This record gives sequence, C-alpha cells and structure tokens, in this order.
Amino acid sequence: MKVSEAIAERRAVKHFDAHHQMSDDEFKHMMQLAMQSPTSFNIQNWRFVRVVDSAKREKIKAAAWDQAQVTDASALLIICADVKAWDKDPARYWKNAPQETAELMVSMTGPFYEGREWLQRDEAMRSVGIAAQTLMLLAKEMGYDSCPMIGFDQEVVSEVINLPKDHAIGMMLAIGKEAKAPHPRGGSIDFDEAVITDNF
Ligand SMILES: Cc1cc2nc3c(=O)[nH]c(=O)nc-3n(C[C@H](O)[C@H](O)[C@H](O)COP(=O)(O)O)c2cc1C
Repeated sequence: MKVSEAIAERRAVKHFDAHHQMSDDEFKHMMQLAMQSPTSFNIQNWRFVRVVDSAKREKIKAAAWDQAQVTDASALLIICADVKAWDKDPARYWKNAPQETAELMVSMTGPFYEGREWLQRDEAMRSVGIAAQTLMLLAKEMGYDSCPMIGFDQEVVSEVINLPKDHAIGMMLAIGKEAKAPHPRGGSIDFDEAVITDNF
C-alpha cells in the first residue's frame, strides 16, 4: 500500500472485531517501526503502554464513556511520554553517531529543555502525535484500522497503568480489524483557512 493510500483511507474506526487477535510478531513489527518516528534531539520520549489485561481494559473503558474500541481493539496502546527523557543519560541517544555529533547534541539538549516545563510538555505531545500517526498509517498497511482517542479520564487511566510522576499521557490508540465502517468523513474546512502562504 502506498503511503498516500494509507493517508486517504485511514479513518477513526469505532467498531472492531473483538475476536481478532494481533500476533506477537505483528505487534513487534509495528512497534519497531513506530520507534523509528522522529523526536527532537532524538530523545525518543514516547512510551507505549500495551494494555492486554482484560480487567484493566474494562476499567479504562468505564473511564472512557464506555467506548467499545477500548475492549474490542486487537491492540490498545496508551501512548505516553517521559517528560524528562531529555535529562536521562542523553548520551545513549547518540551511541551510534560520530563522537563529535554525539557530544554536540548532548551538550545542547540540557540547556534547551532545562527549566522550560512548557517546552518539555510540548515535546512530549509532539512526539506522541508523530508516533501515533506513524502507527495509524502502518496499521492500514498491515490490514488493520485504528482510532485515536482522548475521550477518557486521564487520572483514572494514569492510575490503571501506574503512570510515573514525570510521564504524561498523550493519547490512547485502539488498533483492530474493522467490524463496521465509520460514517462518511465529517467535512473539511476550506483549503485557504488551513493553508497560509507567508503569513496570516
Ligand atoms: C487526538 C484525538 C482524539 C480523539 N479522540 C476520540 C475519541 O475519544 N473517541 C472517538 O471515537 N474518536 C476520537 N477521535 C477521532 C476523531 O473524532 C476523528 O479522527 C475525526 O472526527 C476525523 O475523522 P477521521 O479520523 O475518520 O478522518 C480522536 C481523534 C484525535 C486525533
């Protein structure tokens, strides 16, 4: 499947075949590619929590307006980020780079994020968003569909997954086999409202 086809055909699917199981090989393949998603300073701050335990899925569903995707998806990911990844031994993010590049990047990372909590949080959400889109397009290629989700109680889900204090939840992503096609797309805003040349 071409990337352009995956983009055009991806939809937020709400009904999945609850009986379909994603194999471990498929899951690993998907996640290894997701981990190629770019992050600023290569800090790889995404953390993907795969929820397999059915009791946990039920708790999350109850905290997510009972949305069926939560329990019916073949893979349910809570895509989180380590907000402090920039400060956790950043040399490991450059272990394969030429020494000069590694030293330069590591020396720039701390000063860029230090004391700028808003930027650390922005970075977390940027990385989560990019990784989520990578996963959604990849899911299409693999014969799956997906639903990005933020309609849930973050406090409850944080508790269910035991989210560390210095991490944040970006979104949930349900991936599964479509059981019912979604409604036609909601509608697009005008091209010129979205695409601006030079300045607003
Ligand atoms: C960050 C984010 C959160 C969303 N949360 C939910 C959700 O909780 N439940 C849901 O059914 N759809 C959710 N959606 C799906 C959107 O409603 C959907 O992507 C949008 O209407 C466009 O439709 P399409 O993705 O089929 O093109 C979410 C989408 C995004 C990007």
